[in-house]
Amino acid sequence: MAIRNIRIDDDPILRKVARPVEKINDRVIQLIDDMIDTMYHANGVGLAAPQIGILKSIVVIDVGYGVIELINPEIIEQKGSQTDIEGCLSLPERTGNVERPSYVKVKGLNREGKEVVIEGEELLAVALCHEIDHLNGVLFIDKIIEE
Ligand code: NI
Repeated sequence: MAIRNIRIDDDPILRKVARPVEKINDRVIQLIDDMIDTMYHANGVGLAAPQIGILKSIVVIDVGYGVIELINPEIIEQKGSQTDIEGCLSLPERTGNVERPSYVKVKGLNREGKEVVIEGEELLAVALCHEIDHLNGVLFIDKIIEE
């Protein structure tokens, strides 16, 4: 396991679209482990692979109930709305209010290649949406609502 450098601010890789993972090999497993290490080291609640310069569709999240790792995640259902303040490890100087669904259901693969479905409300719904946005080159500052 290793801590990787988090790309920040105007780094162009943050605006690129990540590619789906075709094969879960040792490098992918190593990458996931490094992402988890890097997220905890930075005291974050989530991290997407592009944030460490890797354009692969992988996110890790821990909103306080243990780590969730998702390969090729996609939102398959969403309901309601909530607005709360967000920040991002890649935008250390910025915060702002963002509207998100109050509930999301996300499908992805775990490191064994098995399909997993995660349902999230409150902060977990926010984190799932925020991290999946990263895979599409979207940052929370694109969605800030003026109060
Ligand atoms: Ni972020």
